[in-house]
Amino acid sequence: MSHPFYLTTAIAYVNGKPHVGHAYEFIASDAICRYHRMLGENVFFLSGVDEHSAQVEKAARDEGASTQDYCDKMAVVFRELHEKLGSHLDGFIRTSEPRHHVTTQEMLRRSYEKGDIYKGHYEGWYCVSCEAFYQDDDLEANNCCPVHKKPCEWLKEENYFFKLSKYTEALKQHFQENPTFNQPDGYRNEMTAQLERGLKDISISRSTTKWGVPLPWDESHVAYVWFDALSNYLTGVGFMKEEETFKTFWPADIHVIGKDINRFHSVLWPAMLMSCDLELPKQVLVHGFIYHKGEKMSKTIGNIVDPLALIEAYGRDPLRYFLLREVAFGQDGNYSEEALINRYNADLANDLGNLSSRVLSMVKKYRKCLVPNPAGSEDGLREAMEKARRQYRENMDKNALHLALGAVWDLISYANRYVDEQAPWALAKDDGRQDQLDRVLLNLVEALRAAAVMIYPVMPDISLEMLRRLACPVEGEHPLLADLDAWNLCAGRTIEPGPSLFPRIEKEEK
Ligand code: MSP
Repeated sequence: MSHPFYLTTAIAYVNGKPHVGHAYEFIASDAICRYHRMLGENVFFLSGVDEHSAQVEKAARDEGASTQDYCDKMAVVFRELHEKLGSHLDGFIRTSEPRHHVTTQEMLRRSYEKGDIYKGHYEGWYCVSCEAFYQDDDLEANNCCPVHKKPCEWLKEENYFFKLSKYTEALKQHFQENPTFNQPDGYRNEMTAQLERGLKDISISRSTTKWGVPLPWDESHVAYVWFDALSNYLTGVGFMKEEETFKTFWPADIHVIGKDINRFHSVLWPAMLMSCDLELPKQVLVHGFIYHKGEKMSKTIGNIVDPLALIEAYGRDPLRYFLLREVAFGQDGNYSEEALINRYNADLANDLGNLSSRVLSMVKKYRKCLVPNPAGSEDGLREAMEKARRQYRENMDKNALHLALGAVWDLISYANRYVDEQAPWALAKDDGRQDQLDRVLLNLVEALRAAAVMIYPVMPDISLEMLRRLACPVEGEHPLLADLDAWNLCAGRTIEPGPSLFPRIEKEEK
């Protein structure tokens, strides 16, 4: 049985349509999963939506719809975005589903029976948009929320509390013993500093609404958003329902999330799991924010860009490539249409597209589409491929997606230079150098094949199309990284040149 690999995205609030910031998280997660599929692992990729929140109730009211109807509609919107982005999902979870109520209630019950939940009063600075209380240290000037930059409200209410403080030492130890639990390191350091400052117990219920999961021992309260939301990662792989699936995939390998919700995932979530005697996830992997016009893209700020419009205009693979190459994973990055067009023209049309059409048209012109099969063809180009493959693997294994793509583009540039240096058009004219022409053409075809395999996680459609044209179509659903062990797979096959993979975008048109 192949090695299981379970990755989740955050579940987005459905109080607004998804934007490019959400799309970025989905694309990065899908690319990581596709890489693990190429390694031959048994992958489970989960995403979904977070429906129990005051913001969602408000959005439904604003539309004059019932909360459930509103959520039903928005769940479809998020699912469709995944489809359009090319996410290969294995599960999609909605927190209003009965199967998820079962999980949340079981988690609450276990924690309550442990003595980790008690009733109390909460007073503090509350950000309605984050649905979270903030400590004084966290607030910005005028008691503004550090994420939304809007003033927090002073709130007092009767709540049930989770004894987060009780787990401070255990969490410190977990961070110490598992240096890659929270990545990249900058985020991990922030969390360890928070642990050093000490943790406060956290409110986990509301009695002011009925929209949520009722507490098993006091139905006048529903679970507060985070206790309910985080448990989705268990429901999604069959907790309490499908024992085999759960046993196979839990604990999760990676939770992919944005930096604003790291403390919930790296501090609260492991404490909840400890309280419920469940294993902890192996890693919380944090990405930065996508900025647009100088600010974090967000509905509240009003600078959102619709990913569907970009897919329509540029295609999904170019959008996936742009976001994953442009943004250093873990850091914040900027979106602008101009940058997208520049990358498209430079990296895709000029570098990759050009290499592909040059190589295929030369094999067509000089060898009637038949890839030659000369002996002992390896040279500097194969060495360049080996180097790219090594760097690609090292970086993909660290989820440094932008660096992995950089390594593939080094190979593509090398191959384009190789064409210029070897000048196959000159070799073709010289009867005495036909063997060399065979070698050059095979090398180029194989380098192109290697590039096509390595771009699969980021540009799956283009990858499969390139492999098809090279007469090396994949046998299952995706290429295998192990296919790069051979340097003559295309030899003796008949390639199929086609139209340009990336027609240039003329800026004036935009
Ligand atoms: N519902 C919670 C998550 C619960 S997970 C158990 C939530 N939802 S959200 O809709 O606000 O955000 C969903 C994800 O999108 C988060 O990981 C968040 O960081 C990410 N992003 C939201 N805006 C973003 C950008 N502008 N850029 C990149 N990611 C951003 O938080």
